[in-house]
Amino acid sequence: MSSTAPKKREEDKSLDLALRPNVFSEYIGQETIKNNLKILIEAAKRRKEPVEHVLFYGPAGLGKTTLAHLIAKEINTQIRVTSGPAIEKVGDLASILTNLSPGDILFIDEAHRLNKLIEEILYPAMENRSLDIIIGKGPSARAIQLELPPFSIIAATTRIALLSSPLRSRFSGGTFRLDFYKKEDIEKIISRSAKILGVLIEKDAVPLIAERSRFTPRTANRFLKRARDYAEVHGKGIITKDLAQKALELMEIDDKGLDSLDRKVLDTVINKFNGGPVGLTTIAASVREEEDTIEEISEPYLMQLGFLERTPRGRCATARAYEHLGVKPPKTEQQKLI
Ligand code: ADE
Repeated sequence: MSSTAPKKREEDKSLDLALRPNVFSEYIGQETIKNNLKILIEAAKRRKEPVEHVLFYGPAGLGKTTLAHLIAKEINTQIRVTSGPAIEKVGDLASILTNLSPGDILFIDEAHRLNKLIEEILYPAMENRSLDIIIGKGPSARAIQLELPPFSIIAATTRIALLSSPLRSRFSGGTFRLDFYKKEDIEKIISRSAKILGVLIEKDAVPLIAERSRFTPRTANRFLKRARDYAEVHGKGIITKDLAQKALELMEIDDKGLDSLDRKVLDTVINKFNGGPVGLTTIAASVREEEDTIEEISEPYLMQLGFLERTPRGRCATARAYEHLGVKPPKTEQQKLI
């Protein structure tokens, strides 16, 4: 199985860009994080220093990258974007860091996929702006130390537990966990996005799409766009509740927002492994999907809904999951439903 993390489709990338809030006041939800960031930014501005290093973590599609761009806009600085897997060699990181201008932000996505050697170069760079590298090999190798311009690192990860603790401790500006959004916030995001896309959406279609968007803005925006397509082809271009429902059915999204992969995962745990416990590797092989995709996309949502539990012995389906698939739960689980 390849180690590549779930990829975003090209279409989703450009969509994210067009719908991404440009200023903090446009960013809906995650109030506590926004309030913390505003203080961090204001304090840095007053001291005329770069913002301190910040780490965002949480499930995909909740706005980690968007927040990084908002910080850069707010302090009116350049943001350089890279990712853990893109920095393969020490030289890659050295070249990125030495090319930063004073005050720049370096955004590192998928930070859990940075290799250990690179992490070790990052520690002194983050702590005292010192780039310590070895040039050459064997007896002629020389250690050199370069002073870097003042800069900030903003890192994002879906898998905080995979970050080494020395790296985690370098984020002096704070480590912020993005949570799933409230349904009302997803509704606001859908209405805002519809305006930007110039599509009319009937009032009762908004909660319907919101309900099935896994409490995730990226998913909500993707569904909105698919509903718009459907309304253009099968209707008059206005997203009615009925057309939205049909568009979601076509995408095989059920009333709880589960897609076919989520249902396959539940079906495997329940019907092939008697409700679990069963290991992630076994589930992934059974549904023929990458482990990363299941762990980063399906599981967080299934757990949020209370359909799946992680135990030390493996994943277990809950009584609610049985009920959702229309399968009679075993006696022990049945009791939990009463
Ligand atoms: N689009 C995607 N995420 C958003 C958010 N949090 N607020 C407003 N628009 C968004």
